[in-house]
Parts: sequence; C-alpha cells; structure tokens
Amino acid sequence: GNVAVFASGSGSNFQAIADALKESPHRLVLLVCDRKKAYVRQRAQAAGIPVEDINYFRGDTREDAERELLERLKPRSIDLIVLAGFMRLLSPLLVDAYKDRIINIHPSLLPKYPGTHGIEESYRSGDRELGITIHRVDYGLDTGPVIRQGKIPRIDGESLEDFEARIHALEHRLYPEVILDILEGNIS
Ligand code: GRF
Repeated sequence: GNVAVFASGSGSNFQAIADALKESPHRLVLLVCDRKKAYVRQRAQAAGIPVEDINYFRGDTREDAERELLERLKPRSIDLIVLAGFMRLLSPLLVDAYKDRIINIHPSLLPKYPGTHGIEESYRSGDRELGITIHRVDYGLDTGPVIRQGKIPRIDGESLEDFEARIHALEHRLYPEVILDILEGNIS
C-alpha cells in the first residue's frame, strides 16, 4: 500500500514510519506539510520522500486549501493517510475523500486530554496510568474510534522531559506497528 504522512513539526514519528516502511513491501510516497520551517521537511529530503505543501492561509477556508491538495493527492494512489503531529483539524472534505483511511496519533489515553497539550496535561494529572492513542480520524479533534492504545505507568518524581521521552518512544514503536497491520489487512 501507499502511505502519505501529514506532519507539521519535528517529525520523529515520520522518521519511525519511514524507517519501518522501508523494510516492508509498502511505500511512504509523500509528506504533506503545512509549515515552511518544519524540521520534518529535512527528514523527508534525507529519506528521498517528496513533499507537498498545504497552505491553509491561501484560500478563505480549510476546504479551499484541501480541495487543491486533493487534486495533487489523487494521482499518487494513496491507501492510507497518517497524521503524525499535524497541527490542523482536517475539514470534512478531506475526511470524506479518504473515508476510514485516515489515522492519527495522540500522546494521551483518549478521551482524556485531547488537543495540543496532551503530554503536559497527562503529566500534571494524578493519573497512575498514562499513554498514547492511535485512532481513526473523524470530523472532531482527537475524537475518532480508537484502534490501539499503549499504556505506561507514572513514575513518581519523573521530569516532564523524561516522561515525554517515554511517550515518544512508545509512539515510535506502536505507530509503525499499527500502520503495517492496517496495510496488511490485519485491522479492518
Ligand atoms: C507526537 O507526540 C504526536 O502524538 C502529537 O504530536 C507529536 C509529534 O511529534 N500529535 P513528531 O513531530 O512526530 O516528533
């Protein structure tokens, strides 16, 4: 299958996915990025993966930007869109165009702590059990049906930085696994 990753930032998940797909019969065919300065662009260049921009500030609405992107996605026969630190809410136009073929990763045990501060809010909560969620994308923010969660225990006295590192390590392990399971048809 052909995968496109959408990312806005550092792209450590993009890297984990690119590395895993290279060892598989599937292909990471495209990075879609909405930020000119995102470090993920350098990762894509180093991995030889083409980049398409989406400029949410050009048209009047999210749909305008996405309609134009959709035309560029079509010829690439994309089977699965993977959001990996993509800091934009997709409009129904794109979600419907790739119905049930868009997944997202979030650094908390959803439905707890959706939104941009999932790691900090998890860290500051008293929860004993913390983790990450991989889910299908619907119209909401971090709301679609859960595919898989990974859990780790709270370590008392752990710094935020160390906690973040554990969360990211879990993401980098589980996201490629789930992506490959979907592409292999092991998850419907
Ligand atoms: C990850 O923690 C992901 O769960 C969240 O944004 C972060 C992206 O990190 N949605 P990176 O760009 O993959 O390094």
